[in-house]
Amino acid sequence: MKTFVRTMLAAVLVTSGLTIAPAARALPDGLAPTPPMGFNNWNTTGCDINEQMIRDMADLFVSKGLKDVGYEYVNVDDCWAAAERDPVTGRYLPHPVKFPSGIKALADYVHGKGLKFGIYTSAGVRTCAKTMPGSLGFEDIDAQTFADWGVDYLKYDNCNNQGVPAIERYTKMRDALKKTGRPIVYSLCEWGENKPWEWGAEVGHLWRTTGDINDTWAKTVDLFKRNAPLAQYAGPGHWNDPDMLEVGNGGMTTTEYRSHFGLWAMMAAPLLIGSDLREISPEHLDILRNKEVIDLDQDKLGKQADIVSGGEGRWVLRKPLANGDVAVALFNEGEAHQRISTSAAELGLPPRPGYALRDVWQHKDFQTAGRISALVPPHATVIYRIEVGAHDWARYEPLVSTGLEIAAHAPGVPGTITPAGQPFEVTVSATNHARVPVAGVRAELRAPDGWPVEQLAKPGKWLVGTEEAATARWRVVPPAGAEGSTAELTGTVGYRTFGHGTGGSTSPATVTVPPAPPTGAGALSDVGWVLARNGYGPPEKDMSNGSVPAGDGKPLTINGVTYAKGIGAHAVSEVVFFLDGRCSALTTDVGVDDEREPAQQRGSASFEIWADGRVAAASGVRTWQDPATTLSADLTGARFLRLVVTDGGDGNAYDRGDWAGPRLTCQ
Ligand code: GLA
Repeated sequence: MKTFVRTMLAAVLVTSGLTIAPAARALPDGLAPTPPMGFNNWNTTGCDINEQMIRDMADLFVSKGLKDVGYEYVNVDDCWAAAERDPVTGRYLPHPVKFPSGIKALADYVHGKGLKFGIYTSAGVRTCAKTMPGSLGFEDIDAQTFADWGVDYLKYDNCNNQGVPAIERYTKMRDALKKTGRPIVYSLCEWGENKPWEWGAEVGHLWRTTGDINDTWAKTVDLFKRNAPLAQYAGPGHWNDPDMLEVGNGGMTTTEYRSHFGLWAMMAAPLLIGSDLREISPEHLDILRNKEVIDLDQDKLGKQADIVSGGEGRWVLRKPLANGDVAVALFNEGEAHQRISTSAAELGLPPRPGYALRDVWQHKDFQTAGRISALVPPHATVIYRIEVGAHDWARYEPLVSTGLEIAAHAPGVPGTITPAGQPFEVTVSATNHARVPVAGVRAELRAPDGWPVEQLAKPGKWLVGTEEAATARWRVVPPAGAEGSTAELTGTVGYRTFGHGTGGSTSPATVTVPPAPPTGAGALSDVGWVLARNGYGPPEKDMSNGSVPAGDGKPLTINGVTYAKGIGAHAVSEVVFFLDGRCSALTTDVGVDDEREPAQQRGSASFEIWADGRVAAASGVRTWQDPATTLSADLTGARFLRLVVTDGGDGNAYDRGDWAGPRLTCQ
């Protein structure tokens, strides 16, 4: 009957010229009504795992209050099994050294804490780490083994799959799990290769949309950008999975970890802690335990945030919530403070004289007349929960966006780069978004000793009404001698409210004073770069990218040809040099480095040389099979040189891009 009604409705809509998207159908088992939350050891231990660690994590879930805020699944990743199956039964055997008590005992332990237990294998003949067999061809026996052990969650990977189509492999395991009769959350980990968002809802409860995360800002942003546009495919019982959390692993700043966690929550992503909770700092633990952020992720409506706008690294995301509230995230992807704004009208809220909104990081309520705006520090994410049902908005303190902005010295270049001897302007302002005024704005700027600072304007009028701003301006000059250093400028702004005390903020901003520009002709890798972003740890000098640690590359090699000098990058990468208009040309070979295991016949990247806002040379897509190609760029007049490596269109895995033997010619 229901199907009949739906068909009729669709027919009516189609004949009336409207179409409706077919509703994504979740599995009928009712599992994962909200995105799964828990722990998985891979991001912190890799294969180096043992049963004690998993027990410790279960203990810490309880003792650190993580269970109380919703973390539930304690999951083991790759490498938990012995190298071969039991020759008689064909069943998995637990790794004798890493899991001597067996998996059943471990699951029992986790269950004893009121938690659930998850496991991992691959839809292939071996898992990705290859230390243990995969489940291809053994689906029924393995699903039954997992059920017998008390497994509640299965992550099913994609390695060594013998070319068998993904849908076939993943469906087979779905059916095998179903046959066991045990409720098991089923996580499809095929890295987004076969658009699992289009078919995954009928196969599993969540599906990876991307390649692997790592503990770098560049990778985290890359995964966010790939996952965010897929909002329409997610919902209760069927979630997009941009991979597990890196919060606490040490490769990002606290601001970046907050953004990572906040954006994952906005995207209704599974929240699987990927750090060792025995060692995590209290500050990072507090990110993971922020109940107000978790509530956005776990909201029963199950909507993944959609993108309201996203130009120039200024992202506005909107997530409707079950009680009618709307969460909005203002995410600054960029390297300088930026104003990011939206409004109640743009978010589709009913017109009102005012709205109450809750800052879920500060745990404070504010009122706005409709505009929602913040001066967001680099890599930070401001998240407000707009309490649409709250008619008492007028009792909250005014929403005032305060902070510092530095006029960009080099448009298109990330970061705030301020060459020595060249003046730049800084503003410190307070903009009132509330119905009621604020008063008495004071603003200050602190610069390092020896930096000439001249105030150009004071905040002006005493009373600041709705959507009015009080702005102070300064002219700052980095002195000679500051070349090759960074410096901190701090803007402080304060104001008085009527009835809510005082408000304000202190915003530090780092500016980079580039090294003196190069002279003569020579190897580019001998010139210090001003800043760099890279997809897999830092870019390396005179060696290939290697992995995440600095200095871990191999000789730069493209299709068997080795180069002594150059820069080993990994998509997505951007390395910036300060030339100050004194150089004329760059010539370099480019290509995908040979550094990968022989079995990994993958990797493609595109190389671009930017002279200020102009592409001076570009390679097009180069794959792991291609020989090096030579790029020659005219850099005449350019103040900044940017070397950019982007993904070649097949995801970023193994995209180690070499700038091989680059030679720069200057005056
Ligand atoms: C793949 C997965 C990772 C992890 C490893 C284990 O790379 O995508 O999340 O499970 O395998 O080997």
